[in-house]
Amino acid sequence: MDKNKELIEKAVKAINENRETVESDYYRLKYHIMPPTGLLNDPNGFIQFNGEYHLFYQFHPFDTSHGLKYWGHFRSRDFVEWDELPIALAPSNWYETHGCYSGSAVDNDGTLTLIYTGNVKDEEGNRETYQCLATTEDGINFDKHDDNPVMYNQPEGYTRHFRDPKVWKKEDTWYMVIGTQTVKEEGRVLLFKSKDLKEWELIGEVTGSNINELKDFGYMWECPDLFELNCKDVLIACPQGVESQGDLYNNIYQSGYVVGKLDYETGKLEHGEFTELDRGFEFYAPQTTLDEKSRRILIGWMGLPEREEHPTVENKWIHAMTIPRVLELRNDKLMQKPIEELKNMRENHVSYKDIVLNNEEIQLDNISGDVIELSVEFVPQDAQEFGIKVRCSEDNEEETVIYYDRSSQKLVFDRNKSGKGYGGIRRCHIKDKKNLKLNIFIDTSSVEIFVNDGEEVFTGRIYPNKDSLGIKFFAKGGAIKINKIDKWDLSGFKINNLINL
Ligand code: FRU
Repeated sequence: MDKNKELIEKAVKAINENRETVESDYYRLKYHIMPPTGLLNDPNGFIQFNGEYHLFYQFHPFDTSHGLKYWGHFRSRDFVEWDELPIALAPSNWYETHGCYSGSAVDNDGTLTLIYTGNVKDEEGNRETYQCLATTEDGINFDKHDDNPVMYNQPEGYTRHFRDPKVWKKEDTWYMVIGTQTVKEEGRVLLFKSKDLKEWELIGEVTGSNINELKDFGYMWECPDLFELNCKDVLIACPQGVESQGDLYNNIYQSGYVVGKLDYETGKLEHGEFTELDRGFEFYAPQTTLDEKSRRILIGWMGLPEREEHPTVENKWIHAMTIPRVLELRNDKLMQKPIEELKNMRENHVSYKDIVLNNEEIQLDNISGDVIELSVEFVPQDAQEFGIKVRCSEDNEEETVIYYDRSSQKLVFDRNKSGKGYGGIRRCHIKDKKNLKLNIFIDTSSVEIFVNDGEEVFTGRIYPNKDSLGIKFFAKGGAIKINKIDKWDLSGFKINNLINL
């Protein structure tokens, strides 16, 4: 049997064997993309093609470790109903023996084409990296290009940590950004160009550690993405090895963006400071695409490399994607909003208006739950702290606290009492204004908080008891007014299992 078919069949067998265990897990999310079994990491090949969104992902189907990577595949028209399609890429060739690593997708004159990194490691741990193409006629079955790889290893001056091509077309030329490190172990993003996706020419360095203001900014940069927004160029990248500074860079690896103007002749991006895309815990390797409505949509991996304390591991799966966010640029700052289509999941609307809290904590009838969206507008008065507790248990042992601390002007996301799994606190400066708006998406084991219409986002996985459904509103050291509370139950994704097609 051909190697590709053999590898895919082996994976499908593992998926079918473990599905029941996976599906029995309360922590399976209701409106996030997850692996059917095993491990999911980076979003890959995110594209709108012939009116449908394709979302591929780094997939280790056999267990929850970062083993041999395949590309899993989902497809949707509306971000609510999804087809879970057969595995798109399996590591079957000599140029990808240690995994089909991350990459992107383009529409090449009507052909959906994937560009990804073939990862090879020998017994001594020496690495080779190859950039590869795969195409499809039916949007489901992919053929690797006969002349793969189209790029062998790295240009001079860089190491073989050279991966994650993101490709786009401008006029009649293809451009690629790729993540790498210099021989001095400084993270870099490089720009290449091509006329045919096969022959690539290095243009130059886009940016990286110790360039512009980015002093000692990581030994490796992964998963770059570069796109135009409001006549500016935005580079998203994931530096590894940035030291934490107060509230900043507190996760093991970072993902954020710089804004500037790309010089397509030299490859150089003159830009301002690096800003983290997410202020919470599990968020990494985001990828964007542009759709027919000219929306720049981002999906991130709601995970990070650690795994020991993820309670889903015992049920044979780990990690998920974030909900899709639409990006807008305002004064060189990215605003991130939950994609509109998710409103189609809303049901059982409950609404309250004009509530005053004076140094107290309250619960409201019909405001509770584990698969819900909440929208709250606070008007601070003289309270020192105010906020919301979600996923509260009746005995007060469990709660996930989201609050604003007026003395430090920080929004705080505290999951130290959230239940099983990792704890921790994340904070981000938010200016003390006339009001504070929180739009919170709660799923069975995740929280995503959009602050002031997308000024900041906090993402985190939490693992409370399934009966911890309470929601409380509180003010400390004075009063606040809550202008409006809206709560909806969310019906969840509809997923059609076509993995065995
Ligand atoms: C980021 C990353 C990528 C790589 C992939 C492998 O999470 O390390 O750089 O292509 O994961 O799964």
